Amino acid sequence: MEQCSRSVVLFLLIELLLLQLLIQTSNSQTLPIVDDVLGRHGTQVYIIDVERHEHHDLLNDGDLESFHHSFLSNSTLDSNEPRLVYSYRHVLSGFAARLTLGELEVVKSKPGFLYAQCDRRYQLATTYTPKYLDLTTYNAWGSSMMGQGLIIGVLDTGIKPTHPSFKDTNMPPKPPITKWKGNCSYAGFPCNNKIIGAKAFFGGSHPSPKDTNGHGTHVASTAAGNFVKDANVLGMAKGDLASGMAPMAHLSIYKVCYPKVKCPEADLYAAIDQAIKDRVDIISMSITGDHNATFYQDSISRGSMAAIQHGIIPVVCAGNDGPITGTLSHSAPWVLTVGASTTDRRIASIVEFGDGKTFLGESAYQPTNWNSNYKWQLEYPGKYGNINASCCMPSELANWNLRGKIVICQACFGKDKEEGEAAYLAGAEGMILLNHPILGHTTFSHDHVLPASNIDSPARYEILNYYFNNQPNAFASLHFQGTKFGFIPSPTVAAFSSRGPSRMNGGIIKPDVLAPGVNILAAWPRDVGPNPNPLATLTFNFESGTSMATPHVSAPHVSGIVALVRSKHLGWTPAEIISAIVTTAVDSWTTAGDLIADDLSYKTAGIYAMGAGQVNPTWAMDPGLVFGLTLNDYIGYLCGLGYNDQEVSFTIGKQTSCYGVQYLTASQLNYPSIAVNFTRSVTSQTVSRTVKNVGDAREDYSALITEPVGVTIYLSTYKLQFTRLNQEESYNIYFALNTNYPSQGSDMIERGKIVWYSGKHVVTTPIAVRFT
Ligand SMILES: *[C@@H]1O[C@H](CO)[C@@H](O)[C@H](O)[C@H]1NC(C)=O
Ligand SMILES: *[C@@H]1O[C@H](CO)[C@@H](O)[C@H](O)[C@H]1NC(C)=O
Ligand SMILES: *[C@@H]1O[C@H](CO)[C@@H](O)[C@H](O)[C@H]1NC(C)=O
Ligand SMILES: *[C@@H]1O[C@H](CO)[C@@H](O)[C@H](O)[C@H]1NC(C)=O
Ligand SMILES: *[C@@H]1O[C@H](CO)[C@@H](O)[C@H](O)[C@H]1NC(C)=O
Repeated sequence: MEQCSRSVVLFLLIELLLLQLLIQTSNSQTLPIVDDVLGRHGTQVYIIDVERHEHHDLLNDGDLESFHHSFLSNSTLDSNEPRLVYSYRHVLSGFAARLTLGELEVVKSKPGFLYAQCDRRYQLATTYTPKYLDLTTYNAWGSSMMGQGLIIGVLDTGIKPTHPSFKDTNMPPKPPITKWKGNCSYAGFPCNNKIIGAKAFFGGSHPSPKDTNGHGTHVASTAAGNFVKDANVLGMAKGDLASGMAPMAHLSIYKVCYPKVKCPEADLYAAIDQAIKDRVDIISMSITGDHNATFYQDSISRGSMAAIQHGIIPVVCAGNDGPITGTLSHSAPWVLTVGASTTDRRIASIVEFGDGKTFLGESAYQPTNWNSNYKWQLEYPGKYGNINASCCMPSELANWNLRGKIVICQACFGKDKEEGEAAYLAGAEGMILLNHPILGHTTFSHDHVLPASNIDSPARYEILNYYFNNQPNAFASLHFQGTKFGFIPSPTVAAFSSRGPSRMNGGIIKPDVLAPGVNILAAWPRDVGPNPNPLATLTFNFESGTSMATPHVSAPHVSGIVALVRSKHLGWTPAEIISAIVTTAVDSWTTAGDLIADDLSYKTAGIYAMGAGQVNPTWAMDPGLVFGLTLNDYIGYLCGLGYNDQEVSFTIGKQTSCYGVQYLTASQLNYPSIAVNFTRSVTSQTVSRTVKNVGDAREDYSALITEPVGVTIYLSTYKLQFTRLNQEESYNIYFALNTNYPSQGSDMIERGKIVWYSGKHVVTTPIAVRFT
């Protein structure tokens, strides 16, 4: 128990310290640490691995439950609460149970016990634009039938089923019972041919899958929302027709995240188990993780391993812990890990100062009766150095009269909207919200309750300087310009998108790809902005309202793309689909080849921030060549990572041994990207790759290499010639240092790529060389 609570609190403390370090406006305030680890009667939920029952596959659910109950002999339990929370079938051999520390000891002493872990809580990440990705009926959509018949399982906060995005107009009927085993078991929950399954998992009980948060509704509509005319937020971003990425795909909803408990792993495991039983095609998880967890300690990595063995493709978000390196969670090579990119759209709200200087910011609420010519006096509640006041915290602003003024607030702790509400209550006419330095150039178009402009962090100093140099004669006006497209540079890597390298995966390049994840317009369960508001016509919203930090990542977006690729290529394995998406992604944002920039600084983004680059759904449908992986490859990789037999068994979900297995380093795994390490003593390396022809039967490819700085690359062949479909060809890639080794301790990472091109297909292998 001690271990459990301490590790969780320690984790939070370290996060907090990092956050504190990053907040240059050094802050004496502490974030609330919710220590809800100890539950009722000193019990807590543990996830317990036991040896597989010899007839595991033959046991019905009741028998499996009895088997798991046998580890929880009642004599050792001191309350009559049900101790068994979940009995798992596919995700792992074991169960979740509510136990005291003493009771856990008894379970540990039973024969067949293997491993117990605390039930940790993961957090939500958020979402994000078919047009921006050039997804019209003429290209990707045309050839995939818009994901028709595919089932996307969404693990999140549930769904608002009555939202127009989830109407089943023109939807095909739900798949036949031979394919689809799930249902909407919650009484009265209105499922249809769009939402074909919905179930909530909450500590062993199954409450309503209805979404009260908004995140799940937003995510589900981004992945597979049906067409809705005139979707907008408070009149902004009004397009002709909004839809998800795969508007003809079905949705199966698994509610696992709740306001207080966040997303408990015991519930996550249960939901993935159910999704496998239900036979979804894709599992979309916009849930962050623990970047320090090994694969077998992480419900998402482990659950995903079970999922791929059933042909299901796991799509996960990289997390929102950027821009710090090494913050990426869910780094397993069997999941598609998605980072967040910005788009070229801004909901423009311009700040103009008394001296005529202007700054571009964003806000979704842009009232039409606003007098943009009037310059209001500026006030900065943080002027005396009170941090809480600089953050416009409600308790501080209660003492301020901001009537007739525009207030300057620092965006703190992701509570942007709360700051706007506090400013509004203090009488402010408008708000200039200065972004935190860790957000770089990333800004948000929130549905504020007063006229506002969210300004990127590089401008904050200039704005504060103007204020301090001119007050009390500092004035500003706000000019609303509505929805503007064509902002450059775009896409960029969102500052908050989590970055690798992961310490857990041997250096494999993660995130795999980027997809739009900032200010995404999608379905929302209730009206937004100042209420009642005549502008709030249809309930859509940009991004989501999770409480802490900057919440938007794009797993659901890519889930929709995966659905498109999968619906075109039903026989493909999850590894092949991941390959198609990685090798067709685009690493530049101009036709001249300028590499995608990092929104933090506008400098070129590192390869562990952008992966292969921005997803390209049209090209992903027809990748030409794919890199495949088998279960044995993953086992060899896990053994190569240094996992012992038991750890490999936990990860794979069945008894496995490294004995006789061919060990693979992360570099040698047949992944669509390549990461190699150089050390002072090892300055050359050879890795091999095998590709399968999925393009034209007869197609010849030539290699074009971009070498990493200081590294020479040779290939064993520069031509690949195919004469039939599914033909496989292997080749070696030889890496050698061609310069002096970088100075000690620099831990440099250089990027390169190998491009196979045939005239019709372009197959890119991103490369990272790390000087450790
Ligand atoms: C993660 O692991 C590293 C290395 O073991 C350690 O230094 C770090 O403190 C850990 N971080 C957290 C948040 O536990
Ligand atoms: C700032 O706010 C936090 C949380 O409300 C509070 O604990 C802290 O004491 C405040 N700090 C100051 C300097 O007022
Ligand atoms: C477990 O046993 C105790 C005492 O032996 C008894 O009071 C309790 O009702 C039992 N609980 C259940 C769920 O059977
Ligand atoms: C839904 O499926 C579950 C099994 O997952 C089954 O027990 C239940 O009876 C089904 N409910 C309906 C309404 O078909
Ligand atoms: C490369 O080096 C990093 C950092 O030391 C390490 O985490 C990773 O496992 C190494 N990868 C390989 C393939 O040796």
